[in-house]
Amino acid sequence: MNMQQLVINGKNKLQGEIEISGAKNSVLALLAATVILNGKTTLTGCPELSDVYSTCQILTSLGCSCKRKGNSITVCSDDIHKSDIDHSLMMKMRSSILFMGALLARFKSRPCEVFYPGGCPLGDRPIDIHISALSKLGAVITENGGKLICKAPNGLKGADISLMFPSVGATENIILASVLAKGETNLSNCACEPEITDLCRFLNKCGAKIYGYGTPNIRIVGVEKLYGCEYKVCPDRIETATYMGCAAVTGGELILNSADTSSMTAVVPVFEQMGCKIYAREHSILIAAPGQLKPVKNIRTMPYPGFPTDAQPIVMAALATAGGTSVIVETIFPNRFGQAAELVKMGADIRIENDVAIISKSGGLYGASVKCHDLRAGASLVVLALACEGKSILSDIYHIDRGYECLEQKLNAVGGDVVRTY
Ligand code: UD1
Repeated sequence: MNMQQLVINGKNKLQGEIEISGAKNSVLALLAATVILNGKTTLTGCPELSDVYSTCQILTSLGCSCKRKGNSITVCSDDIHKSDIDHSLMMKMRSSILFMGALLARFKSRPCEVFYPGGCPLGDRPIDIHISALSKLGAVITENGGKLICKAPNGLKGADISLMFPSVGATENIILASVLAKGETNLSNCACEPEITDLCRFLNKCGAKIYGYGTPNIRIVGVEKLYGCEYKVCPDRIETATYMGCAAVTGGELILNSADTSSMTAVVPVFEQMGCKIYAREHSILIAAPGQLKPVKNIRTMPYPGFPTDAQPIVMAALATAGGTSVIVETIFPNRFGQAAELVKMGADIRIENDVAIISKSGGLYGASVKCHDLRAGASLVVLALACEGKSILSDIYHIDRGYECLEQKLNAVGGDVVRTY
C-alpha cells in the first residue's frame, strides 16, 4: 500500500496510438502453471504490474527461480521445495488460489497449504466450486482457521465435472490439477474466457492434451510430464475496454495496437451504441468518439462471450457523460458498484437498486478528490476524470497499479494530463 495519488486534469481530447499490454488475468494463471512444468519457461509480453510481481514472489517463496528481463519472465520450478504459501502472499490477489490446483498436481500426496485468497472487494467471493471440483479429482481439502490443507492421498484421477456456475478461477484450477492426472477429465459448463483459452494453449504447447477450450465443454487427457516452453501472453481485453472508455469520454480518436479484436465482441457494440465509430482490424482497434455520447439502456454483465463484469465500471463512467438515461445490470458479482459513490462525487447521476444501476444525464461534471475502491473501480475514476472540468485527485491508486501498466505514460502520450504524486 502507498500514499501515491493520480492528479488528472480533464477535458483534453485524446488522440493517437496506445499499445495494449499482455493480459493481467492471463499472465497470473500462466505463472501459476509453471509450478507443474519441467525445465525453463519464458513468458513474453508480461505486463509490469504489482499482481505479476506478487505472483513471482509466490513462485520464489516456493523455491522456483523467477527472473524478469523487460517484458519477459523466465521461471524454472525444477528446484521447488516448499508446498505452502504464506498468508500475506495469498492475500495479495484472487488468482493466488490457482496455486491450489497447481500444487496439488505437483505434490499429489504431500500436503500443500494455502489460504483463502485476497483480491478486489467485489462482495462475497467463495471458492466452493474450486473445492468441490478438485475433490472430484481425488483431492482432500480441509480447512483450519482460514488455512486450506490440500492433498491427493492416492494421486489425482480424471473425472466428469459439471460446474454449477462457469467460474473462471475454478475452471483454471481444474485444468491445472487435471493435466497431470491419471485418465480423462470431462468438464462441462466451464468458463470460456479468452484467458482460459490462453492457459490451455500454453499448457498444450508444454505437452498437455486439452481439447474444446473456448467452449463450455473441455476434455483433458492426463499426461505423465509437461515441459516448459516460450509463450506470448494474450492481449488485455479489459485494458483495451478502458482505453476505449478514455477515448469515448473525451470525444477522442485512439488506435489501440496489439488489441485482440476477437475478444471484444460484446464490448464493441456498446461503444457503437454510445455513438462511437469503431474500426476493428485483427490486431488493432480504432475508436473515434462523437462530441456527446448517447445512453445505452440494456447492458447486462454475463460470462464470456457476454459483456464482461470487469468492463462494467468503465462503461458506467463513460455513460455518466451521456445525454440520457442508461441502465446496467450486474449479474456476476453481487454489489459490484463500488465505483458509483465516487463517480457521483464528480457530478455523475447514478442510482443503484440492488444489481441495477441507472445512470442519468449529469448536471455537470467537475474534478473531485476520489478514492479507488478496487481495480476496475479505480479505472472508472480515471475515465470520468478525463471528462471532468478541472482537476481530480485519485487516492488508493495501488488498486490501479495491480492491473494497468504505465497508465499515466500511455494516457499522456495521447494528450492526457495525468500526474502521479508521491
Ligand atoms: C475472474 C477474474 C476477474 C473477473 C471474474 C469474472 C482473475 C484473476 N480474475 O475472477 O477479474 O471479474 O473472473 O469474469 O482472472 N463463485 C462462487 N464460487 C466459487 C467461485 C466463484 O460462487 O467457487 C462466484 C463468484 O462469487 C462470482 C462468480 O462466481 O459471483 C464469478 O466468479 P469467478 O468466475 O470465479 O471469478 P474469479 O475467477 O474470481
